Amino acid sequence: MTDLYDRLQTAAQAIAEATGHARHDVVVVLGSASGDFPEHLQESTAIPYPQIPGFPVPAVKGHAGTLYSTTFGDNRVLLLSGRVHAYEGYNPDVLTFAVKACLAAGCHTLVVTNAAGGCGDGMTAGSIVLIADHINLAGINPLMGPNDDRLGTRFPDMSDTYTPGLRRLALEVAAEQDIALSEGVYAWFLGPTFETPAEVEMARRLGADLVGMSTVPEVICARHMGRNIIGLSVVTNLAAGIATHRLTHEDVTATANLVKEDFRRLLSALLPRI
Ligand code: HPA
Repeated sequence: MTDLYDRLQTAAQAIAEATGHARHDVVVVLGSASGDFPEHLQESTAIPYPQIPGFPVPAVKGHAGTLYSTTFGDNRVLLLSGRVHAYEGYNPDVLTFAVKACLAAGCHTLVVTNAAGGCGDGMTAGSIVLIADHINLAGINPLMGPNDDRLGTRFPDMSDTYTPGLRRLALEVAAEQDIALSEGVYAWFLGPTFETPAEVEMARRLGADLVGMSTVPEVICARHMGRNIIGLSVVTNLAAGIATHRLTHEDVTATANLVKEDFRRLLSALLPRI
């Protein structure tokens, strides 16, 4: 098989050809809390994942695999609608391929979004939280394996991974939009089980405010490639042991639905200013 670098160039070229744009500026991963965000785009080109060489095809219900190309202000933006997760059995290389291909297509900034359980002080279901940092509790790392120096260094620094200037911008934009936005630390669990109450308590004591099953692999790869990063979580539920009821995917989706309007406003106001 050709090496990763070449496969990324091939995918980036396919994106350029399918969209008619040699370069894009920002890539957004639309997680399961993103609602119908793509349906509100003024003008966009939609490319089904299978048309882009190397893109994985998501299996989870409600995770359609479509790449959208659109503009927000002067920014040409790629939206990944449908992400694959480590718990589906993909190896970390496949899992992060789509994001890396979009970064190879020129994007200087990655915006990651997700649904998460809240475990920190003050977290409430239905709120939007800006990710300030993360804790990798999944026991795997997408950079495992040989390193390609053309993509990034073997031992990437992870301080200020969530770009401080962009965090300030997000808080400013949220205030302007009258949307409450706090900051929190996201802990990545492998899933697909929701966490046990003991695991949530562990994460909380370690400094986590949010628990979830995604985001961190893409963020690590973007950091490796030297890109700017911004992360937004929708707290769809209080995490196990803090919540007084059992957790279901349906509840997660239902709460995400309630927040989707604010989420869309925030993201739409933020994207032109990145
Ligand atoms: N745990 C992990 N992932 C999640 C949760 C949770 O409580 N809610 C939404 N995604």
